[in-house]
Amino acid sequence: MNSKCVIRGSINIDEFFYVKDIVHPGETISSHRLSKRAGGKGANQAVAVARAGASVALVGSVGEDGRWIVESLKDSQVDVSDIQIVPESSGRAVIQLTDDGENSIILFKGANYAQHPKKSLPFGPTYVLLQNEIPLEDTLAYINAAAEASSSTVTVFNPSPVPSDTEIKKFPWNKITWLIVNEREASDICQALFSGAPDINVPGSGEAACANIPAYPILLRLSSQFPKTNIVCTLGAAGVLALVPSLQDSTASSEPIFLPAAKLQDGVVDTTGAGDCFTGYLVAGLMKMRDERSKVLQRKNVISILKRCVQAAGMCVEKRGALESIPHAKDVDTHAI
Ligand code: ADP
Ligand code: NA
Repeated sequence: MNSKCVIRGSINIDEFFYVKDIVHPGETISSHRLSKRAGGKGANQAVAVARAGASVALVGSVGEDGRWIVESLKDSQVDVSDIQIVPESSGRAVIQLTDDGENSIILFKGANYAQHPKKSLPFGPTYVLLQNEIPLEDTLAYINAAAEASSSTVTVFNPSPVPSDTEIKKFPWNKITWLIVNEREASDICQALFSGAPDINVPGSGEAACANIPAYPILLRLSSQFPKTNIVCTLGAAGVLALVPSLQDSTASSEPIFLPAAKLQDGVVDTTGAGDCFTGYLVAGLMKMRDERSKVLQRKNVISILKRCVQAAGMCVEKRGALESIPHAKDVDTHAI
């Protein structure tokens, strides 16, 4: 049976007001251009999973003003049957953008915080993908539902934005199969859990390339707290570092995996959405591996999945926008590194 990914997550309308300068208190200014795009981490990652070629459903809420996003998600092959339309306004990001790239953003949670009736998971091998732009109790409900479902259910969590220190301390980290973080998120979680910088010896035997990566000791510290969880840390222009304790083929499952970022052809245009693109490609890659090959997680397979993620995220960075800059699998695979 083919895997299905269920995302319980956010959907936003991102409104970009192009201005000469960011508005000051008491001031009225005009915007010379307005553009409106679909966004929110749930929607972005759903589109990334779909463009990466896997089957995905997004569970979430929008207002009447967000019907067009539901249509566009559907056009992107996302299963939208559990997106509900609620009386509140859709979640929104109001973004002022200046010509020299400065921005200021107002976020409005709106419909993303509406009650959603769907709390159970579909039958069968399922990947549950979660972020932190909806009520934390809903995220926790899905984590628990996944833990109680069949043992083949895989829970992937991208803790963005990072929960509060209290929430981090209480969070059921050991129920997460794959934790996907950027360096900032890794460090914030580490600070909250251990109230300070990691005090841990970096094993000398690790791949030489990892020894100097600042995130490495942080990941080791996190891994000591939840040793079964696979941790993938994106490092921006420096690539990705992963600790994958569930590797089954190698005695050296504790050896980290490091991959440099993709070499860009066109330079950095806009890094928005790169993390969401990476996450979607990672989940789709894991799903495809399980459907096509085996249930045994092998180091070489994880490396090839991560290579594809790095390639996809690199292509995302070369284009303006978030959701619209997520590449399709066929274009990623023709650029294979
Ligand atoms: P986030 O967007 O969540 O902060 P990162 O900044 O770590 O995440 O970026 C996610 C991935 O996007 C990186 O692992 C990398 O593969 C790719 N990426 C980000 N910035 C660049 C860059 N300047 N050049 C090449 N790849 C990049
Ligand atoms: Na982009």
